This record gives sequence, C-alpha cells and structure tokens, in this order.
Amino acid sequence: MTTDIQPTDSGAAGPGTATGTAVLEATGVTKKFGGLTAVKNVDLRVNSGEIVGLIGPNGAGKTTFFNCLTGLYVPTEGTVSYKGTVLPHQSHLVTKAGIARTFQNIRLFANMTVLENVLVGRHTRTKEGLWSALLRGPGFKKAEKESEARAMELLEFTGLAGKRDHLARNLPYGEQRKLEIARALASDPGLLLLDEPTAGMNPQETRTTQDLVFAIRDQGIAVLVIEHDMRFIFNLCDRVSVLVQGEKLVEGTAEVVQADERVVAAYLGTPYEGAPGAEEVSEVEAAEAHSTAGTEGDTK
Ligand SMILES: Nc1ncnc2c1ncn2[C@@H]1O[C@H](COP(=O)(O)OP(=O)(O)O)[C@@H](O)[C@H]1O
Ligand SMILES: [Mg+2]
Repeated sequence: MTTDIQPTDSGAAGPGTATGTAVLEATGVTKKFGGLTAVKNVDLRVNSGEIVGLIGPNGAGKTTFFNCLTGLYVPTEGTVSYKGTVLPHQSHLVTKAGIARTFQNIRLFANMTVLENVLVGRHTRTKEGLWSALLRGPGFKKAEKESEARAMELLEFTGLAGKRDHLARNLPYGEQRKLEIARALASDPGLLLLDEPTAGMNPQETRTTQDLVFAIRDQGIAVLVIEHDMRFIFNLCDRVSVLVQGEKLVEGTAEVVQADERVVAAYLGTPYEGAPGAEEVSEVEAAEAHSTAGTEGDTK
C-alpha cells in the first residue's frame, strides 16, 4: 500500500511517480535584449512528479525565461537540459523532445474547430506532421483515426468534449485557455509549461484549472507554471521560484516563499536593502508622482 518513497509535499503524487529525477534543468540562463538583461543567470530544476511555480512582478522575465526553455529564444548564456540531454534552440525540436507549453497570449487557430486545434497539436512534433495534418495527406489519413481518438480523450480530460466542433474563436476565454492545454498535451509531453493559465478566468474556472493541473501531474507530467493568482500558485505548487528583475530572488515551498519579506516587498514595490533595481523603483515612483501632480483631469 505504501512505497519507500514518500512525497513530503501536499497533494498526493500520482501512482508510480518517482520524485527526485530532474526533468528540466536550466543552468545559468541569461537573456539580454540589447542593453536590457531580461533574465539573469537563472538556475531552475523541475523534478519528475513536481508542480513548480514561477512568480514575479510584471516584467520580471518569466515569459522570456519560458521562451529560453522552449527554444523560441537562444539564451545569451546558459544551458537547458531535458531529462539529461541539452536541448537545441529550435522550438519544434524542444516539443519533440517532450516539452509542451501554453502561451500568455493565447495562440490557437481561431478559424479551426476545437478538435482540429488538438489534432494540429498532435502533429506539431515535426514540420511534416503539421503539413500532413493541415492538408489531410495520406500519412495523416492513416493515423487520423488514432489521433482523433486521442484528441477526444484530451477534450474529455479538459472538459471540452461537448465543444469539439465549435470554432476556437467562439469559445469563451477560459475555454480557449483550456483548449491550449489540451493542444499542448496532444504532443505527449513529459513537461508542461503554463504561462498564466488562469488569466481572465472566473474563480470557478480557476478551480477547475487547478484540478486539471493536479490531474496532469498525476499522469506523470511535470509542470512549471507562471501565474499571478497567488492562491492558485500556493495551493498547487510543490515549490515556488520568485523572479525579480530577471534574477531568482527566492525559491522554496509555499510557506517559505510567503514568509519571505523580500517577496512581499517585490510585490508591493517596496524596495528593501540591496534589492535589484531598488534605485530604478524609486526613480520611477518619483517620476510617477511628478507626472500625476502635473496632469489634472487625466483619469479614466
Ligand atoms: N522580444 C523582446 N525584445 C525586447 N525586450 C523584451 C522582449 N521580450 C521581453 N522584453 C523585456 O524583457 C523584460 C521581461 O519581460 P517578460 O519576460 O515578458 O516579463 P514577465 O513575463 O515576467 O512579465 C521586460 O522588460 C520586457 O519589456
Ligand atoms: Mg509574461
């Protein structure tokens, strides 16, 4: 009934999920845009069976970091490994290796049906597969039945089966986000990256998304999630990493992160001693105070 490995985190780990093996290992990742260092020397590890959160104020570099992990950006420095193998800087190869993601700005094929979007997700492993899916070539037809069955499974799993024939653009926002998750899962990933999965959702939708992420983890898929909803993050995550101004400030359990005064300060915008960018923060505040004083009747 019990096993030797007892996960100490909250939430039951799925059956057979070994903890402790690195699924994702980012080492010294830096990304510069001209003079701006958006991500600075970030190390991050996600182990199998884990849900890890990545939080931080707007502009902290979270999405840029995701883009470095998924081959959309070539990091200025650092390496990213998936299950012990260094990843190439090409997103389709990263997907093929086993990392799937959703986007902060939803990227669906708006004029395709819900089912078709998931089918495309299933065939984005290679360029050939994508064209085959879009053009319904012979290779696609052969695999179509099997792919469709799997896609329908994923739509059931994400609660969208009843909408299979709706156009993606006609779905409410929350369901579009879930469809992105279904499409990401269609590539059979070992690691799923979610960039603000509950943005624009109501509390009910956020709850079902939370349950969905637990269910994904229980299927043996490790999860790295960016989100601003702290209740969501702290309920869900085994570990939380905090980025501020491109640098990792704190990492630990929900309790550790919540108790860290530097995290509170980063969110409230109160600079603490030695904070990265503390000077800039006070400059911005001074400038804002100045401009507010000077603009009357400019309220929305
Ligand atoms: N493609 C880009 N070119 C130039 N600057 C960028 C680019 N993408 C992001 N940035 C900048 O990098 C910083 C981090 O942005 P981002 O990663 O989107 O933050 P977050 O997702 O944490 O809100 C911001 O200052 C942003 O303006
Ligand atoms: Mg972002």
